[in-house]
Amino acid sequence: MSPLTELYAQIANCHRCEIARYRTNAVPGEGPEDAEIMFIGEAPGYNEDLQGRPFVGQAGMYLEKLLASIGLTRQQVYITNVIKTRPPNNREPLPIEVQNCRPWLDRQLEIMRPKVIVTLGRYSLSAFVPNKSISKAHGTVVNQDGAIIYAMYHPAAALHQASLRKEIEDDVRKIPTLLAEARATARAQFEPQPQQLNLFKE
Ligand code: URA
Repeated sequence: MSPLTELYAQIANCHRCEIARYRTNAVPGEGPEDAEIMFIGEAPGYNEDLQGRPFVGQAGMYLEKLLASIGLTRQQVYITNVIKTRPPNNREPLPIEVQNCRPWLDRQLEIMRPKVIVTLGRYSLSAFVPNKSISKAHGTVVNQDGAIIYAMYHPAAALHQASLRKEIEDDVRKIPTLLAEARATARAQFEPQPQQLNLFKE
C-alpha cells in the first residue's frame, strides 16, 4: 500500500470531529503522489461528500478550466482541502475542525513534498500564513521556506463574484513561472528546518 493510500484509510476512519457522523465519505484528496503542485481548498461540499473526491462540483469545473488555461489537467496536480469532511449545510469549518484535521494535511505535505502549494481561499491561506487578508495576498508568494506557497482566491468565490474572475484568471497564469523557479532551485531537495512552518516534518 502506498503511503498516500494508507493515509486515506486512516482519514476515512477518523472520528475526531462530530461532523464525521454525518458524512457520506471522507474526502482526503486526489492526484499523483509525485505531483509537483498541490492545490488546497477549504472543505468538501455536497458533491464531494457524495463522491469522496475533492472539487467535483461547480467550483471544481471552474478549477479545471483554470488549470486548462495553463496547460494542465487535474490528473497532473494534487487537490485536497484543509478539512477532509463536509461541514453540514456547507457551513464554514470551525477552528477545532481545522485543528483536528491539520495532521492529515501535514502528512500529505510530508509524503508528497510538492514544489508549489497553491492555497485556494482565505481558510487555506490562513492555514499557512495567519492574519493575511486574501484580497491583499492573492497572486503573491506568501512564503517560500521549503515550498513556494502561492495564494489564490477560492474558485467558488470567483464564480459567485464576477469581479474576482479576472483576478483569479490572472493569478493562475503565474503558476508555471513559479514551478519553473522551484524546479530550477531544486527546492524539493531542501533539508527541512524546524522554523520552516513545519511543512515537511521529518
Ligand atoms: N470547495 C472546496 O473548498 N473544496 C472542495 O472540495 C469543493 C469545493
